[in-house]
Amino acid sequence: MDFRDILARRRMHRAFLPDPLAPEQIDRIAGVIRRAPSGGFSQGGSIVVVTDREKREQIARAFGDEHYSTDGRNFIADAPVHMVISANEALYHARYNEADKLAATGGVEVTWPVPYWFVDAGALMMLVLLAAIDEGLASAFVGHPDQKRIFDELLGLPEDVVPLGLALIGKAGDSPPIGSRLRSRQRPLDDLVHRERW
Ligand SMILES: Cc1cc2nc3c(=O)[nH]c(=O)nc-3n(C[C@H](O)[C@H](O)[C@H](O)COP(=O)(O)O)c2cc1C
Repeated sequence: MDFRDILARRRMHRAFLPDPLAPEQIDRIAGVIRRAPSGGFSQGGSIVVVTDREKREQIARAFGDEHYSTDGRNFIADAPVHMVISANEALYHARYNEADKLAATGGVEVTWPVPYWFVDAGALMMLVLLAAIDEGLASAFVGHPDQKRIFDELLGLPEDVVPLGLALIGKAGDSPPIGSRLRSRQRPLDDLVHRERW
């Protein structure tokens, strides 16, 4: 699919058909991790792919029903593929303490301008969502304030691994009207894109 078409279709879907996806399709989507950039090539991003129905229902319950249910259907539970996208800060500290990096930063670990582990995991999240659209599917991303505990308990994340949230992938269902994207709520482009200087 042409990038412009993918972009035009990009939105957070809020209804999925529960039909399972082909394993090759799931592999292609998760496989974008190989094309994801990372600071110092630290490769701290990770994905846990969940297709097991009972597990997806447990995740949906833990995330709470109120935001995610319409007409008795919960779109987290319905989405046939869950991908938990996480960051691992420790891998960045290890990488930036290797000799080639220390040689460039005077023997001390770089001063982090922003947490690259979250930058990179966010970029990975976007690649996953767009790859799903490229497959002709729908996708969404949701978070929960207590998601570290939730995914530790349900999926056994290691201590160092911090989930950004949950990517949902599946065939598009009939999404409810788009509330949060209303044009009236869109900030003017000039507030977002600055030319030559702020
Ligand atoms: C980091 C992040 C966290 C989000 N968390 C949630 C969430 O917890 N629940 C939800 O319904 N939508 C969530 N969204 C979706 C946003 O509400 C959505 O992206 C925004 O309203 C714009 O709509 P659009 O993505 O369809 O253009 C999240 C989006 C991002 C990027």
